Amino acid sequence: GSGPLADQHGRTARDLRVSLTDRCNLRCHYCMPPEGLPWLDRARVLDDEEVVRLVRLAVRDLGVREVRFTGGEPLLRKGLERIVAATTALRTDEGEPVRTSLTTNGIGLHHRARALADAGLTRVNVSLDTLRPDRFAEITRRDRHADVLAGVEAAAAAGLAPVKVNAVLLRGTNDDEAADLLRWALAGGYRLRFIEQMPLDPHGTWRREDMITAEEILSALQREFTLRPRPGAARGAAPAETWDVLGPGGRGPDGVLGDVGIIASVTRPFCGDCDRTRLTADGQVRTCLFSTSETDLLHAMRGGADDAALAATWRSAMWGKLAGHDIDDPAFLHPTRPMSAIGG
Ligand code: GTP
Ligand code: 5AD
Ligand code: SF4
Repeated sequence: GSGPLADQHGRTARDLRVSLTDRCNLRCHYCMPPEGLPWLDRARVLDDEEVVRLVRLAVRDLGVREVRFTGGEPLLRKGLERIVAATTALRTDEGEPVRTSLTTNGIGLHHRARALADAGLTRVNVSLDTLRPDRFAEITRRDRHADVLAGVEAAAAAGLAPVKVNAVLLRGTNDDEAADLLRWALAGGYRLRFIEQMPLDPHGTWRREDMITAEEILSALQREFTLRPRPGAARGAAPAETWDVLGPGGRGPDGVLGDVGIIASVTRPFCGDCDRTRLTADGQVRTCLFSTSETDLLHAMRGGADDAALAATWRSAMWGKLAGHDIDDPAFLHPTRPMSAIGG
């Protein structure tokens, strides 16, 4: 066959998320144990040329229009700037430049934001769960809070704007910081999104009762801010629901100070609009974060498969994408890999 990455549920994947490494320089409690995880053997990880080949194929033959690089921590890839440059040089099936973005913990971004912008990167999303250095060290087990703040500022200064900031609230740890984080983001001109914690930790210890829900986050914010929902139609395939933050002395029309998003993957799943396909650092296609199976492009490619064969394999993998996840089903199966190895 030919054509884009369609599935049986009427969705088409236009957004490719590529994990460039499963390694990370932080050890967030909800993501990794202190000693790290059994990392992928380096020989199994796609090299820069292999990544670029698969990305090119996805754009040229499979209708992908936007590419996000994730990890683990994608800044740990030395070739990142070159991979980004090769990707932004591609044109979509509509003749537009491919939009590229990065989801990062921000460490080292301070030194690379300019080069990434020069390589054509469009945007960055930086993960930051707290404004307090002591809490940051507790959550991530590394004392790198200042590096992350410097990274966010450098990204904005390099024009990788608007910088989005992703925060996960953890019960009893940083769940009192929702309003502080929003005040900080509004002042800096960053777009803050809160993410509901999903069952993607390596040890399967996630419990629904521990998760801070979208509803809890909203009520915490509404105690200090006036929020106005953005119309649902504006959301498209984006996972975040967005609210305008209104306030006295606000800049834009109607005194809008900025916005805030909530990614309610668990309590308000958005699978029906999902437009994503994923590639792991070891060249496996995943149709979903929660897939229980993967499709191997690594060995196909290294075994000599041509682009047409790889495209056909990717297409048929996506055709089988499930309608959605069943986190709320008692029979829910924890994915075979943790988030850090899938790409957040
Ligand atoms: P933009 O809105 O385009 O900037 O990107 P994004 O929100 O898709 O990207 P980002 O990497 O910042 O993702 C933020 C969070 O959204 C992730 O950590 C996940 O929690 C959630 N997310 C992204 N993609 C998916 C997905 O396919 N399924 C689910 N359930 N959650 C997702
Ligand atoms: N649920 C939700 N978000 C998670 N992240 C990592 N693990 C989880 C999880 N189990 C977040 C990180 C980062 C983004 C890439 O994913 O905090 O912001
Ligand atoms: Fe690293 Fe992100 Fe996992 Fe934290 S959540 S350990 S920053 S991959």
